[in-house]
Formats: sequence, structure tokens, C-alpha cells
Amino acid sequence: MPHMQQAAWDTLEMLMTHLSQDYPEWFSLQRDGDQWLWINRALDLQQAFTFGDASSLPYEPLEYITRQIQGDFALLDQRENNLWMDAGMVTGPADWSIKFDAGMSFTEWHAPVPMAHQMGVFDRALKYLMHIQVDRPVRRLNWTMTVNPRLDTSSETFHEWGHERSSVTAENLAQLVHLRVELQFLARLPRSNALMFSIRTYLISLEELVTQPEWACRLHRVLRDLPDELADYKGLSQYRPLVVEWLRQFDPEVATCTA
Ligand code: HEM
Repeated sequence: MPHMQQAAWDTLEMLMTHLSQDYPEWFSLQRDGDQWLWINRALDLQQAFTFGDASSLPYEPLEYITRQIQGDFALLDQRENNLWMDAGMVTGPADWSIKFDAGMSFTEWHAPVPMAHQMGVFDRALKYLMHIQVDRPVRRLNWTMTVNPRLDTSSETFHEWGHERSSVTAENLAQLVHLRVELQFLARLPRSNALMFSIRTYLISLEELVTQPEWACRLHRVLRDLPDELADYKGLSQYRPLVVEWLRQFDPEVATCTA
């Protein structure tokens, strides 16, 4: 949205600065006042531009930089004691849609999540997020499950992936079912005071996951004890019983009990 231009430039600055500092062999950023030179050797790009002038880039600034970065980005405007999803670049969401959520408040876009509202989780989280300071970013994790290692499970493409949930059987679940973990990063942007929320998604098949006995045991217990409402929300009710039954063999406590 137009009022997010400054947040978009803030984001471009943060991402270019970190990439060039963390991976100098791949990226470089030279700044001379508002005249900047960006080099991305991984993609063979070299771009001179004027910071703050969108017409000096081939795409508007948020699109330009997020095309070069893995993961998803939402920029939250902070006003009226709330956060508003007013800009973003999201190509691999876990069963939601940035088009649908655009312009919504923190409470509104979290409305479909069961239990957490009643427990006061979102009220506390919102207060916490609104106090995040510049240069003091935080991270959190979220998890769900996805059939096949598919990053784009957006609402718009539901017809492509929704039916795959019913293809899970006891024979194929180790290969088909994946644990999906999101590493989320939240940072205050200095000029706009917006919050940057990024999501890096990792998928691992159950077959690979159970090579770590501790992970297998833990996933068994979490899935077994997950409230039905949460299992429904996460879209895994259809195949949960099969997966729990299969994971049981990796839980030493259960194995001992039944021995
Ligand atoms: C401001 C940054 C955040 C953004 C942009 C964001 C965005 C979202 C979105 C789009 C969803 C999917 C909702 C749907 O079903 O349509 C979601 C789910 C969720 N969010 Fe957030 N969120 C943010 C911060 C947080 C924080 C700080 C918490 C901590 C309590 C949180 C907890 C959750 C939970 C528990 C779910 C349900 C996930 C699941 O069970 O798979 N979110 N979030």
C-alpha cells in the first residue's frame, strides 16, 4: 500500500546490508550518500540506484529485494495500538493468503486460529511485538505438516494441493508427510517504525525425521496429544491417526509400556 513505501526502503536497506556483511563473497553494497551500488554475484546482478527513488530500480523496492531472497516477508504498519498487514511478498504460505489478509489487523488475520485467542495469547503477543526496538530483533518458530515437500500451500492454490491429504496411506506416509517448520524473524525498521516479519520454511519428510530418535519420539507425543481443534486447523486430521500409529514405534516409553 502507498503508505508503506518508506518501510519498503527500510527493508531493502536491512536486507542488502546484512547480505553484504554476512556473505561478502556473494554480495556487495557501496553507498555514497543516496547513490548506492548493489552487486549480487549469485544472480549476476549489478544495480546502481538512488536510495528513496523507486524509478531508479527495475521493480519497486520491496519487490526488487525480496525477489533475491529466500522466504516470505510481511511488513506491518504500527498505528492505533495495532499492527496492520499493509505490504508483503509471500510465495510459500502455510495455508493462508496475503491477498486475503492485506489490510487486516493482527487480531483479524489471526482470527481462524483456534484456542489461542481465548487463552489471551494474541493479546500478549501483540503487546510484546509493538515494543520491539530497532537493532533488537526476535525470532519464533511455528509448525504444521504438509503432504509432499511443497512450499506454496496458499489458499489460492488449494485446488492443486488440498486433495493430496487424502492420498496418505500407512505404506506411503513416511515419504509423503512432511513436518513444516517456520523460522520467523521480527525486526523494527528504523525510518518507518514498521515491523518486518520474515518466514523461512523448512520441510523434512517423516522418513528423514525419524533418523533422529529424539525428534521421532517428540513428534509422536506432540501429534498424539494435540487437541482436535488444532489438528483440524492445521489440516492434518485426515492422516493424523495413521501417522501417530506409525510414529509409536519410535517412542521408547510407549514401547516399554506395551512390552
Ligand atoms: C506480526 C507478525 C505476524 C504475522 C504477520 C503473522 C501471520 C500469521 C498468519 C497469516 C497466520 C495464518 C492464519 C490463518 O489461518 O489464516 C498465522 C498463524 C498463527 N500465528 Fe501468527 N503472525 C505473526 C506473529 C505471531 C506471533 C508473535 C505469534 C505468537 C503467539 C503468532 C502465533 C500464531 C499461531 C499460533 C498461529 C497458528 C499456526 C498453526 O497452528 O499452524 N503469530 N500467523
